[in-house]
Parts: sequence; C-alpha cells; structure tokens
Amino acid sequence: MTADLRYEQFKLRPGGALRGEVTVPGDKSVSHRAVMLAAIAQGRSEIRNWLAAGDTEATLGALRDLGVQIERHDANTLSIDGGGLRESARPLNLMNAGTGIRLLAGIMAGQDFPSVLDGSVQLRRRPMKRITDPLMLMGADIESSNGGCPLRIRPAALQGISYEMPVASAQVKSAILLAGLYGDSSTTVIQPGPARDHTERMLRSLGVDISADGAGGNAITVVPNDSLTPLDMTVPGDASSAAFLLVAGMLAPDSDLIVKGVNLNPTRTGLLDVLEEMGADLAVSNLDEQAGEPIGDIRLRTSQLRGIEIGGETVVRMIDEFPILMVAALRAEGETLVRDAKELRVKETDRIAVMAQELRKLGAEIEEREDGFRIDGPQNLTGAQVDGHDDHRIAMSLTVAGLIAAEGTVVTDAACAGDSFPGFAEALIGSGARLLPE
Ligand code: S3P
Repeated sequence: MTADLRYEQFKLRPGGALRGEVTVPGDKSVSHRAVMLAAIAQGRSEIRNWLAAGDTEATLGALRDLGVQIERHDANTLSIDGGGLRESARPLNLMNAGTGIRLLAGIMAGQDFPSVLDGSVQLRRRPMKRITDPLMLMGADIESSNGGCPLRIRPAALQGISYEMPVASAQVKSAILLAGLYGDSSTTVIQPGPARDHTERMLRSLGVDISADGAGGNAITVVPNDSLTPLDMTVPGDASSAAFLLVAGMLAPDSDLIVKGVNLNPTRTGLLDVLEEMGADLAVSNLDEQAGEPIGDIRLRTSQLRGIEIGGETVVRMIDEFPILMVAALRAEGETLVRDAKELRVKETDRIAVMAQELRKLGAEIEEREDGFRIDGPQNLTGAQVDGHDDHRIAMSLTVAGLIAAEGTVVTDAACAGDSFPGFAEALIGSGARLLPE
C-alpha cells in the first residue's frame, strides 16, 4: 500500500458490479493512537498494517520532530523506540488531522518542555476549546488562537480531575485520558454516549489501570502511569473505509463483495446496524480478534434499501459514516431522517451542508436540518461535476454517488481521499467499479 498515490480527480460511469474480495487499509483511529502510545512507552514497539495515509503520516512526522526514533521497514510496518520525547525545534504540523492534534495535545500537556501544535488552514478552523477547557482544568498551560490552533503548550503540573464531557467525542475523551497519565491522581471522564474506545483498549493492553464504570460504562477512570509497556500489534482494517465499499456494492447492480478483516468494535459499527435495519443484504463471518479489537469479514450483495430514522447513541457509533449514508438514503425507498448529528458540522468540513450542496449538483433533493437531514427516496441522480472540498469522506462519498448517477460524473479535489484511504480508487476498480482516476 503506497502512501502517496493520490489523484486530482475521479471520473465515474455507472453500471459496474462490485464483486470478489477486497481488503481496506489499517484503521485510522487505531493507527494514530498506536504511534503516539509507542512514542511514550518504554522500549521498542512493533506495529504492522499501520495506515500510511495523509492524516496518520502527519502524526508520525510530529513524533519524529519530537525526537522519536522510527524505523520503517515498509510503508505499513514500523518499529518505534519510545520513551525519549524532547522539545521540537519547530511547530508540530498535524496538517488536516483532528485526531492527531487533539490527542497529541493531551500528551504534550504532560511534558516538561513546551510545544506548539498547528495544522492546515482547514484544521485551524476546527474547535479546540473542547480539549483546552478540560486540559486547563487539569492545570495545563495552553494558549489557543481564538479557540483553535495553533496551540501553545507550556510545561505545567497536572492534577487528576473528574470531567463530564458536553459532547460524546472520542478525541476529547482520549486527550483527557492521555493527559491523565501525567496527573497527580486518577482522572475520570464521563461521556454522554459510547464514543469509540480504542484509547481505553490500548492503554489497558499496555498495563495502564483504566476502568469503565457507571451507567453503560460511560465513566472512564485512568490511573497515572509513566511506564507503558511497548506495543506489538497488527492494526485491523478500517470500518470507516470499508463503509464506502459496502454502500457502493449495495447500490451497484449485481454486486457480491466481501470486505475482509474489518474492525468490528461495537463503538464503530453503527452503520452496519443501520444498513441492516434499512434492509441491506449483508453478513458477517470469520469473527476473530486483532490488537484487542473484534474483526471480521463483511459480505454484501446488491440490496433494495428502505428509509429509517436515526438518532441518539447510534449517531456516535457511525459519526464518520453520514456522508456515505446520505448517498444510500437517496436510493432507499421512503424517508430517511437523521437527528442528533450536529457534530457533523464541525468535522473536516460542515458535512451536512457540503454533502447537501454537492449532491444537489447531481439532482438530489435533501432537506438540511440543524442537527441532521431528511431525504425522500428513491431518487435518481444525474451526472455532473462535484467537488471533494479537501474532505476525504466527502470526496469518497461523492465518488460512490457518481457510480450510481447517469453517465459523466467527475469528482474534483479528490486527492484528499488519501488522507484516510490510500488505494481507494484501486479497491473500487479492482472490484469492478467504472472509475478512472486522473
Ligand atoms: C476519532 C473520533 C471522532 C471521529 C474521527 C476520529 C478518533 O471524532 O469523527 O474521525 O479517532 O478519536 P470526535 O471525537 O470529534 O467525534
């Protein structure tokens, strides 16, 4: 899997059935965490099937600037010598990676040297107060720029806190838990719903005392620890990348596709539950465990979907999958109504507004709501030129829309697909999609 295979645009034609077996690259969330935890663990970590993509390479570059020794056997196989972070000579550039900057801020808050965390114009627009507020409650010394990055972090002694998160965000939860490793006493984070729990799983496997209590296990407590054991892990396939192939296969005619080795962590499988409720023909097999995460193969066949209502906790379990769900909803019979999904407005882009705007160019009718959207289907899409807005999940969702639109769809600004899914075009083409990357 190459990290830098990027295309400016994708040209799509309808009609290709998606068949055979396909794998997706390593999980982005797990890959960010793997290299950060390896950097602070004591000793040499081994990481296989690491996601070599724009966002995760940005995190790896920041760690390199912090003096971390990284041996790269190939794009996806790394040995990392942890335990020796030192001050970076320049600001850490997390590019477009929200997970990268928010989690690393938690770690940097606990170091005895200063750091500056920054990123792209897009990242500078994203809210950081959600992490700086709780980190400052712990005693962290952070200066932000109008509630965003750059973040200037100076050394400070951290205290353990108990913090109730206003939003169910795994990035916020993880930033606090990682800072909690450096606290003077234990730290508890209370989440309103089940945000992805990769940080908790990984910290536990590295010998950290971390527990989930309270209703639904939503109060997570970490005990400070400065001697994490090194990691030895193979990163599972990314469920959020698999989502594009699943929906493409479901909507294309005569498809029968198996996506292999996908992370089936229940905090990530909201889309699978929703697609099943919509009537999708999908089946999970070969259940196993990898790196403390459940994995399996997902087989899907062309399906006639029906619209449903989605809200509450399911939303958190599929927060990155709403752009592609919008495409599925357009082809589903009846009404699909999404609520409680306001968080979509502060992702790489405002994903409700941007998807609605671009899909309308393909002739779609979408009712935007403050916290979601309503779509009446099925709708036929016409070919047009649409734009990926430098947001990987927008570009890939529009590509799938192009596969079911009438002839002649072009997705411009498609290079960002490589921020999370290098090989996206190759996976679709290899399965039979009529896609021409340029
Ligand atoms: C992520 C958490 C989610 C998700 C993002 C990855 C993570 O963000 O949207 O793509 O790895 O922790 P929020 O925590 O902002 O919901």
